[in-house]
Amino acid sequence: MQTFIEKALDHSPFWDVCCDHGYVGIGALYTKRFSHVHFVDQVPHIIERLDQLIKQSPDFKEDFPYSLHTMSGESLDGDITGTFLIAGVGGMTIKNILSAALKKETLKAQRLLLSPHTDEAVMSAYIMSEDFKNYYSIKERLMLLDGKKHRPLYILDRN
Ligand SMILES: C[S@@+](CC[C@H](N)C(=O)[O-])C[C@H]1O[C@@H](n2cnc3c(N)ncnc32)[C@H](O)[C@@H]1O
Repeated sequence: MQTFIEKALDHSPFWDVCCDHGYVGIGALYTKRFSHVHFVDQVPHIIERLDQLIKQSPDFKEDFPYSLHTMSGESLDGDITGTFLIAGVGGMTIKNILSAALKKETLKAQRLLLSPHTDEAVMSAYIMSEDFKNYYSIKERLMLLDGKKHRPLYILDRN
C-alpha cells in the first residue's frame, strides 16, 4: 500500500513486519529512500519465495540493502530503528510484537505504522495505555481503502 511508504521516514531503516508477499517492502526498496529494508515473516516458505524474487529481479542488482528475517515479530532481536510497519494482522498480534520489543528495550523506531485487520480495539487500548504513551504518541489515524475494505492506519512517533 502506497500510503505506508509515503508515511515512512526517509534515510533510515524501513521494517515490513508480517510482510507476507512483501509488496510493501519491495515498493520501499524501489524508492531508494531508506537506508535498509527489513522483511519479517514467521512462515519460512514466504521468506524463501521473497528471497528468490528479489535475487532474481534484474532491478535489485546492487545498492539495495535489505535483510530477510524468518521469525515471528515477537522474537526480533537487536535494535529496531527507523519506521516499523506492522500491517494486515490482528490487533492482538500487533500488541504482542510491540510489547515484546519494548520489554527487550529494542524498540527504538522513530515511527510506528500500525494497520490491524481485526481487533483494532485491542491494539488501540494498548497504544493508548499510560505505559505505551511514555514511549510513543499518536500523530494521525487514517482510514485507507484497500479494494472494497477500509483499513485503519495509526501513525505514532517516538516522544
Ligand atoms: C495477511 S498477511 C499481511 C500482509 C501484508 N502485511 C499486508 O498488510 O497486506 C499476514 C502475514 O503475517 C504473518 N504473521 C502473522 N503473525 C505473525 C507474527 N507474529 N510474526 C511474524 N509474521 C506473522 C503471516 O505469516 C502472514 O504472512
